Amino acid sequence: MTYPDIRPRRLRRTPALRRLVAESGVAPRQLVLPLFVREGATEVTPIASMPGVVQHTRDTLKKVANEAVAAGLGGVMLFGIPETKDATGSGAIDPHGILNLAINDVVADVGDELCVRADLCLDEFPDHGHCGVLDGDGNVDNDRTLDIYATMALAQAAAGVDLVAPSGMMDGQVRMVREALDTGEHTGVGILAYSAKYASAFYGPFREAVDSSLQGDRRTYQQDPANRLEGVREARLDVAEGADIVLVKPALGYLDVLAAVKAAVDVPVAAYNVSGEYSMVEAAAAQGWIDREAAILESLTSIHRAGADIILTYWALEAAGLLRA
Ligand code: PBG
Repeated sequence: MTYPDIRPRRLRRTPALRRLVAESGVAPRQLVLPLFVREGATEVTPIASMPGVVQHTRDTLKKVANEAVAAGLGGVMLFGIPETKDATGSGAIDPHGILNLAINDVVADVGDELCVRADLCLDEFPDHGHCGVLDGDGNVDNDRTLDIYATMALAQAAAGVDLVAPSGMMDGQVRMVREALDTGEHTGVGILAYSAKYASAFYGPFREAVDSSLQGDRRTYQQDPANRLEGVREARLDVAEGADIVLVKPALGYLDVLAAVKAAVDVPVAAYNVSGEYSMVEAAAAQGWIDREAAILESLTSIHRAGADIILTYWALEAAGLLRA
C-alpha cells in the first residue's frame, strides 16, 4: 500500500492557511464601474436585460460616482445615450452631447478622487448603430471614422476625461487618437485601448442598455472568437501606437487571450466582464440555481488570475463591499 508523501491538501486545511497561500486577490482599486447616462432623463430607467443596472440621469450619475469614490474603486467608464440619432452620430462630438456633459459633471464633482474614463466609439450615436460611419455601399468606412474619433477624443479631453477608451476596433484608432490629443495639447490624457475586442453574443444585454439601433453584426471590425494570436497582435499594435492600457473583451470566454496578452505587453492589462457574463449569473441566481455572491467573486478572481490588472464589471460597487468583508 502506497500512501502519498506529498500532500497539497495541507495548505487548504483552514481558512487562515488558504488565505496565507492565495496566489491572487483582486482589490477594489482594480475594479471599474461602467455607467450609462441618458440624455433628457428625469428619473432612472431600469435595464430589463441587466437586472440591477440602470440608465442614469445626470443627477443620479453624480450620486453613483460619489459611491464609487467611497468604495475605493479604480474609477468609472461612462456611456452616453442620446435623445436623437443621425447618420453621422453628431451627438458624439458635440460638446453639449450627453456623454461630454456627463464627463464634465462627474469630473467637476469628484474628478480629483476618481479616475474617469469614457467610451470613445460612435455606436450609441448614429441611427444605424455601427461603431463607425458608413460609405456609399453601407460598409463601415475605417478612415473617415478615424477623423470622427479624433474629434471625439478632443471633445472628451476638453470635458476633463482622464482616459479615453477607443472601442470601435478601427485600424489605426489608437495612433489617430494619440496624435489628436497631443496636437490639442492634451498630452496628459491617456488611452485605454480596447485592443482585443471580439464579435461576441455576450454583448446581447448591453444592446438594451444603450438603446442600440444596430441591425446585423460587427464582424467586419470586431474579431473572430476563433482567434487568439490575432488578439495578441492587436494588443501589440496598440502599444506601439501609444496605448497606455490595453483591454481584452469579453473576459470569461477569453481568459487564454488575456493571459497571452499579459505575457506579450509591458503596459497594464484590463478585461471587460461584459453584460452577458453579468446577466447569466443574475438570471441563474434569480432562479436559485447558483450562489450569486460566490459566482461574482469567482468570476472576478478568475479574470484577475488570468492576467487582468484592471476589471470592468457591473458588480464593481457590490464586489468592493464583498472583497472588504
Ligand atoms: C461598443 C460597446 C459594446 C460594449 C461596450 N462598448 C457593444 C458592442 O461592441 O456591440 C458591450 C459591453 C457589454 O456587453 O457589457 N461601443
